[in-house]
Amino acid sequence: MSEIKLQPASTGIKGTLSVPGDKSISHRSIIFSALAEGTSHISNFLTGEDCLRTVQAFREFGVEIKQEGTNVTVQGKGLDALRAPVNPIYFGNSGTTARLMSGVLSALPLFSTAYGDPSLSKRPMDRVVEPLSEMGAEITGREKGKFLPLAFNGQKLRGATIEMKVKSAQVKSALLLAGMLAEGETVIYEKGITRNHTEMLMSQYGISLDKQGNKLTISGNQQPQASNLTVPGDISSAAFFIVAAAITPNSSISIENVGLNPTRDGIITALKKMGAHIEVDQVEKVGHEPVGRVYVKTSELKGCTFEGELIPNLIDEIPILALAATQAEGTTYIKDAKELRVKETDRIEAVVTNLRKLGAEVEPTEDGMIISGKNKLTGGSVDSYGDHRIGMMGAIASLITEGTVLIQDKECINISYPNFFDHLKKVCK
Ligand code: S3P
Repeated sequence: MSEIKLQPASTGIKGTLSVPGDKSISHRSIIFSALAEGTSHISNFLTGEDCLRTVQAFREFGVEIKQEGTNVTVQGKGLDALRAPVNPIYFGNSGTTARLMSGVLSALPLFSTAYGDPSLSKRPMDRVVEPLSEMGAEITGREKGKFLPLAFNGQKLRGATIEMKVKSAQVKSALLLAGMLAEGETVIYEKGITRNHTEMLMSQYGISLDKQGNKLTISGNQQPQASNLTVPGDISSAAFFIVAAAITPNSSISIENVGLNPTRDGIITALKKMGAHIEVDQVEKVGHEPVGRVYVKTSELKGCTFEGELIPNLIDEIPILALAATQAEGTTYIKDAKELRVKETDRIEAVVTNLRKLGAEVEPTEDGMIISGKNKLTGGSVDSYGDHRIGMMGAIASLITEGTVLIQDKECINISYPNFFDHLKKVCK
């Protein structure tokens, strides 16, 4: 594990960036292409460690996947060509691989086992195991399937009506994938709006699905058909540089090719509410997803309350939003975000501990945090706890601290943003 010491950006940050491909869409592009019949070409694929876990998982099922940089070619041979892996599949740190693959692995007539790294092994899997069991899935695992490792005695599932207990796109996607492969019809009632990339990609890969409000209906025995796809830039990665420019004096940044799916753009809504100067233009559709350019410059921010329906729309951006709140005049309340406690690490604890170390005034609550601004940050050491988004929050904080910031375990950032430090260097010139 190596560390990096970062200096404040004394003259501001400037420039144009194009952030890497969206993590959620990259995972799904591999899943649909690998299950499909025919050859799919994916460009601007995220080569972060998490998405490579999904690639590797399908290679273990005998799917030929060629990756050259951010271009990926998947030789889909259809569902019947998949064969059971001999060895356990390693999901690494990737919650999305673990949850979405659970939907697939329980619904294919193959036996497989899977395990994760220490962080993923602590994250709840019962949220997918329980509803999949209602469809007839046979999944066993540690503590009755609450945690990885899991074993999937895959078989034809039967459609069911499922009322979701958590607001989670991963759970919804696992059920949609299982429903697509099952016998009969599956009806899913969502508890709230979550990212809809699976629904978008189902349409792209020729799968029919009906959505009426929070009710999703999918018929079974559907075989995806190959498709070519360009992955939009990840708004969750762009968020770090959007906040960087907003909080650093004398700064302005343009980020091109940012995915602007309305189920994902809550960070822009939230920062605008705080008073950030953000402009979005050049918006066009790439496949089924809107993309555009985001321009942001140094802004006077004010504290706000963030809660309710907005939270799932910016759940991964809360660490960097919390950093922005330390630079806002007044108090920011983040509520209804208990899900943060079961992310790559307990992100409420990790954000509070690290921001306090840097001199911020932050109080944890059960389902969020309270941040008092505006505070000059001092500098210090940030422990990422192996969580990419905590590491990047610390790195962006270094732009505005009085002293240096030491980021421990900087490698974890490769999980979602492999060229993060190159981009940081580029805008600091
Ligand atoms: C994801 C959904 C979210 C998000 C995660 C990616 C996805 O998780 O935090 O980084 O790709 O579906 P939940 O579904 O657990 O909210």
